Amino acid sequence: MKHEPAPLEIFLTRLAFFLYGKSVYKAFADRLPLEGREQVLDFGCGMGTVAYYVAKKLPHGHLTCLDISEQWMNVCRKTLRGYGNITFQQAESPKFANESFNLVYSHFVLHDIPVSELKRIISALAESLKSGGVFVFREPLKEMYKISVIKHLIEQNGLSLKDSRITDIPLLGNALESVYTK
Ligand SMILES: C[S@@+](CC[C@H](N)C(=O)[O-])C[C@H]1O[C@@H](n2cnc3c(N)ncnc32)[C@H](O)[C@@H]1O
Repeated sequence: MKHEPAPLEIFLTRLAFFLYGKSVYKAFADRLPLEGREQVLDFGCGMGTVAYYVAKKLPHGHLTCLDISEQWMNVCRKTLRGYGNITFQQAESPKFANESFNLVYSHFVLHDIPVSELKRIISALAESLKSGGVFVFREPLKEMYKISVIKHLIEQNGLSLKDSRITDIPLLGNALESVYTK
């Protein structure tokens, strides 16, 4: 499995962030249930497209940005330079103390992960949530099979569906956004 992005992918992602930052990534961040004191995990943060907007919402909280790719982590550090409330973690799968986070979100990440790895990852993400904590994912709707596996695994790990919506994303089409509580 390829973990490091090509230079063109980094360039195109930066361009999309510049063009659609507010309408795509900020809009997603604005719907997250945040009051400002939460411990939050961005799983598969990439260049920090969503994290850029989430970090501003946590004046008394903390954001952990995790990605498997060293290059994306380096770009993410640049996107988020100047913030004091962020930890950067390059890792293949989350290894956190149980019940660490109030909120875990994953934006356009899970559909790309093989099912065998998803089982381990979703179980670890669910365990890393505090009781009453929230898990949010947004994935392309065309990945119907992967989405059904993801939903099944989330529910198997004891989380309950609270809300779901379909959003239209420029260039990428419709995406499913689902909110679960522990
Ligand atoms: C399509 S990008 C999305 C990045 C960001 N969330 C966004 O929406 O702009 C997918 C990201 O997931 C990361 N990723 C893929 N598999 C991963 C894994 N097993 N653990 C952590 N990150 C992973 C990739 O390196 C990449 O940065």
